[in-house]
This record gives sequence, structure tokens and C-alpha cells, in this order.
Amino acid sequence: MNVNRRSVLKLAGAGTVAAGVTTVASATGAAAAVRGGVTAGPVPAAAPATKPGVSAAADKAAARAAALVAKMTLDEKIALLHGGTGGTGYAGAVPANTRLDIPALYLGDGPGGVGNGSTGVTQWPDCKTLAATWDPGTAREYGAAYGAEQAGKGHNIALAPCINILRVPYWGRSFETFTEDPYLNAELAAHVVEGIQTHPVIATVKHFAANNQETLRGSIDVVVSQRALHEIYYPGFRAAVQRGGAGAVMTSYNKVNGAWSHENRTAVQDTLRDAWGFDGLVMSDWGGTHSTVLTARAGSDMEMPGSTYLGGKLKDAVTAGTVSAATVDTMAVHVLTAMYRTGLFDHRLPDPATVLSTVVSSDAHLRLARSISVRGSVLLKNERVLPFARPASLAVIGDAADAGALTHGGGSGAVTANGAVVTPLAGIRARAGDIPVTYTKGLAGAADAARAADVAVVVAGDYTGEGTDRTTLALPDGQDELIAAVTAANPRTVVVLNTSGSVLMPWLDGAAAVIANWYGGQEQGNALAAMLFGDEEPGGRLPETFPASEQQGPAKTTVQYPGDGTHVYYDEGLAVGYRWYRSSGEKPLFPFGHGLSYTTFRLSGLSLERSGDGYRASVGVRNTGRRTGSEVVQLYLTAPAAAGEPAGQLKAFEKVTLKPGESRTVRLALPREAFAVWQTTETGWTVLPGTYTVAVGRSSADLPLETKVRIG
Ligand code: GLC
Repeated sequence: MNVNRRSVLKLAGAGTVAAGVTTVASATGAAAAVRGGVTAGPVPAAAPATKPGVSAAADKAAARAAALVAKMTLDEKIALLHGGTGGTGYAGAVPANTRLDIPALYLGDGPGGVGNGSTGVTQWPDCKTLAATWDPGTAREYGAAYGAEQAGKGHNIALAPCINILRVPYWGRSFETFTEDPYLNAELAAHVVEGIQTHPVIATVKHFAANNQETLRGSIDVVVSQRALHEIYYPGFRAAVQRGGAGAVMTSYNKVNGAWSHENRTAVQDTLRDAWGFDGLVMSDWGGTHSTVLTARAGSDMEMPGSTYLGGKLKDAVTAGTVSAATVDTMAVHVLTAMYRTGLFDHRLPDPATVLSTVVSSDAHLRLARSISVRGSVLLKNERVLPFARPASLAVIGDAADAGALTHGGGSGAVTANGAVVTPLAGIRARAGDIPVTYTKGLAGAADAARAADVAVVVAGDYTGEGTDRTTLALPDGQDELIAAVTAANPRTVVVLNTSGSVLMPWLDGAAAVIANWYGGQEQGNALAAMLFGDEEPGGRLPETFPASEQQGPAKTTVQYPGDGTHVYYDEGLAVGYRWYRSSGEKPLFPFGHGLSYTTFRLSGLSLERSGDGYRASVGVRNTGRRTGSEVVQLYLTAPAAAGEPAGQLKAFEKVTLKPGESRTVRLALPREAFAVWQTTETGWTVLPGTYTVAVGRSSADLPLETKVRIG
């Protein structure tokens, strides 16, 4: 979508337009005039990336790094710029420099727990569950617990979080990432990184950028507009480095607009470093380095694993003058800056070889894992069957309820649980007490078992992992037929989706309730049982749209996904996820942000007031039901038509937990940048004049309250 450049206010400097009178109207009909507000014009470039709470002036990491590099030989500097392959429990390593007392680096996967075959660790719910909590506090809490386990196993670089936007629901690593929305992505990424780095563990936000499919991931060239990169695919990375203070970034395997990501100067040097102020470590994905000179000149630092390009060849390049010695110094400074800033010099971790059998999981972490699974499970449908009201008997059905329980995904995101994995069946049996519980694995006998029970619970799953995309959104292995047979036999059937993301639901009308339980980790069964029996309520909201059919959504042609074998074209531009559905008019099965509670809420009285360089929305939330529950109040902004933006973009949210009858006023900040659009490299982020619509509600498709703001 191109915006008519004439519509951009040409304002020198801060670009202040006479503050407009703002008329505010809400669904309750109340109206008020608010004076002043956002100024139209360019939004200044961001502040340099430093550790949260540490000013750039107080940050000594870069200076310490430069002083150390000044003492290093060329060989010693180059030794920092590539790594060996992994060992037990980690994916890569950079040897220590004993002469200068530089600690070794041990790089450990994955985003959903300490991976690479590590033992004694927690198998957490997947990252999609964490995203579905819609709770930055929970994200930070998870990051801190996960970071503690990486530290306990001696890994001072975590190859997490994975924050690639879910452009297509087929992505094989959907379980490892968060969401289709850039704002939710940014909030989660910043908070997970902050949590991880409360320990001497460098968070590595990945994969920069536009790694949104597994098909031909090692060669595909993503053709995408700069505007879509800056407004959709970059915001999570920018927040991770600027607000989270991430010490490292991992570039992606693919090309973006013709350049390999690790040698993409426009993305790395110009954007990540110069525009966003990132001065930490940029590593390749494993085998993602393709050159010596282009990589060094692009602003990237480290080849992982091996030294094909940034080992001897880099020394040769310095000798030949194609890479300056100063560039190698800068690369080494980036690595050491990340290490100093995250405390790796001041807090030395144990050698991984000495803690292989150490158990770093704990009861507290298992409790948190269970809590995240509860807070992130999404109640999609519920017709008076949940929570259970002392059922006389239960029939649990499906391979995914027992031996086939999918508590994590495949590839570098796989995590081995320490101790028992509590399957849905085990969790339900443990919680059911004297209520009889039968189990049936497959179709044979399922209908009879369902018919004989008071309530049926059928668990269905799809196994996904790194390296392969899903070829369909339909549940595999005849599970749709199984669910249909169960719902036909018992109208009080609960369907539990043990999946990486959205699935088609041809049986939906016959199901009394549906819970998106994702890959719930080793506590999955206990979390599910707590929700079914009403000890807890599913607290999640959808971080992705659930399509009603394979024909819905952007990327409808092969060249748009998975591409023509060489290129994949992001023709949808900004219309990713719910943005697509709103602009195309397609009605999904369940919209982004959707999720039911065991109680009910009423939102009312939306108003807007000036706050700092922007506005603050206030809305009343009341628990109108009979039990405590949580609500996620969501704010979606629509820019003036001249901006050329999709309508209704998430710009603020807050999760509140209220007792029956309790009311609260939720305040949602709309800083100036919330109104800005990225038009071109020249204009950058700019606030356009015009009338903006602020809508508030419970999902992207349920926005009962509305107000108008005129800018400039
Ligand atoms: C893999 C993944 C990356 C992972 C790395 C090390 O190919 O793309 O996410 O961290 O290699 O295992």
C-alpha cells in the first residue's frame, strides 16, 4: 500500500501542528472534548540499546570491551568470531581466552526450555502458550526461570526467544514462536529477554529476519517491502534489543530482498545497529554464513558453527585489505560488549561438563510451568459443560491424551523433561478422585465409551517441528473422524487441542466446549485437569487467527507461500493475520484475541485523556459473573485512510483479574509512536494528521467501545 507522499506533513524538526480539539465519543454515547494530544510529524530515532534501567552514559560495557580488544592479537580477536560445534547440552561453543581471562561461550537452545539433550531441566509449555497468556509479566517470569536453568547448566548464551511473526499458520516452528501481531510480539519479546538476562545469560533474539516458513528455509529469498519489514516483521526485534536489552541477535537462514540475512547490510548495519542503536553480538544461524567480506561489512560478527568464513579467511581478508583491521576490532568489541553488559565476566558460570547431571528444574518451576499452561490455554467455546459440575463419570479419548501426548515440538526447540510428563489422562485421573474415568485410545470403542459417560474429553494433537511445514490445517491421523464420532455419541463433549496452532474444526458444532491447550509441557495434564474441574480457569486469548478453511488468509498463491522454489513474495504487505481478515472481510473460525472466561465481563465508559506525548485511554471493566476470572482488555487503532494502513491494529492491552462483582478502571497508554506509520526509509516513522479511531474490546472482532481522536 503506497501512501500519497503529499499527504505527509512536511514539518521541520519536531514538526508541531497546532494541537487539535479532540472529540471523544464512546459506545455509551458520552462525549467529551479533549484538547491537545499527539503532534503530527516525524518520530525521532530511538535511543541506543542498553541494559534496561541503565542509561547509555552509565553503561560501561562497550568501553570495557574496547579496552580489552586493544590488548588482543588479531588471532585472538578472530577466535571470538566463530565457534565450534556443540557438545552435550549446547549447540555451539567459543573457547575461552585464558591469557586475557575471557570466559568461554556455551550457546544453548531452545526457546521453550534448555534443549540440545540437556537433562535435569523443565519441559515448559511451548512459546505459543506463553504468547496466549497475553501477559508481559508472565513472559518476564518465564524468562527469569528459563534463564536460571540455562545458567545452571553452564550455558551463558541462550538461543532464545524465537520471535518470527506467524505469517502463515503452516509454519513448522509455530510452536516455537509467539504471534501474528507485531505489538503483542514486541511486548512478549522485550519481557522474555529482560527475564533471561537477569542472569549472566545473553538472550539471542531470533531469527532476524523474515524466517516465516521451513520450506526451503536455507535458500528461499523473501521478497518483502521495507514498510512491511518495519511495521510487521521488525518490531519484535527492535523491542527485544531496545527495551529488553538483548545482548545478541541471530540472523535467519533465508535471504531478504536478494541478500543472505547474515550479510544483509540494510538489515544489520543500517537498521539493527545504526537506526536502533544495537551494539551487541550478531551471530548466524547454524550454517547461515555465506561469505567473509560481505558478512564483515554488513555489521555481522560471528559464524556459527565452524570457521569456514570468519576464521582463516577473515585473517586473509585483513591481510589483503578487503576487510580492515578496524572492522575486525569492531566485531570483537560487539561480542565482548554483549558479554560485559550481561555480566559474563563478572559472574562466571560452571563448565557445562561439570553440571551435566545437575538438576536445575524445581517444584517452583513446575508450578510456574503449570500456571503458564493455565494462563495460556484458550477457551474457544463453552456451552455449559465447563467447568465440570461433579460429573458422574468421564470418558477420556484419544492417543494425544496418553502415550501420544505432545508436550513439546521437534527440532532445536525440543526439550527433555526432568521427571514425569503428566499426560492429560494422568492429570485428569489424579484430579478426578472417585469419579470413574475410562480411557479409549482410538476410534474403536470411542463412541461407546463416550455414550456410557456423563462427559467425554477428547484430546487431539498434531506433531510439528523445525525443518518441515504443515501441509494442511486439518488434524492428522483420522482425529476429525474420532472427534465427530465422540460428539455424536455424547453432546457433552470437551475437545482439547494439543496442537502447535490453529486447526480446522469440521466437528465444532457438535462439541460443547473446545480448549486450545497448545504443547503444554510436562505439567500439561495437571494444568488441563485444574481447568476442567474449575480449580483454575483457562486464562488465554488467541495470539493467532484460527482460519475457518484452508482458503482463508493471505498468501493464497504458491508464489506467496511457499514460493516458486527461489523466491517467496509477501504480496500481502501489511495485511498479515487479523489485519488480512479485517481488510478482506473473510470471517475466521476464531479471531485474534478471542478467548472465553468461566465468568463474564462488561466493558464500558471508554474515555481518552492527554498523557505525555500521547494519550491514555480509560475503560471500566466489571466482573458480572459468579466467579473470579481474568479479562484481556484490548485496544485497536485505525489511522486516517491517507496513511494506507490496515484498519484496527493492536496498540495496547492489559490483563486484569477480578472477583465477582468487582470493577476496575483499566488505563491503556497510547504514546506518540502508537500513532506513527513507517512510510519510507527517508520519512521513517511519521505521525500523519487526521482522525484516528480508537476501539476497545475483548478481541480483534469484538470491539464494542469506540472513540475518535483528531491529530494535526
Ligand atoms: C537451528 C535453528 C536455530 C537454532 C540453531 C542451533 O537450525 O534454526 O533456531 O538455535 O540451529 O541449534
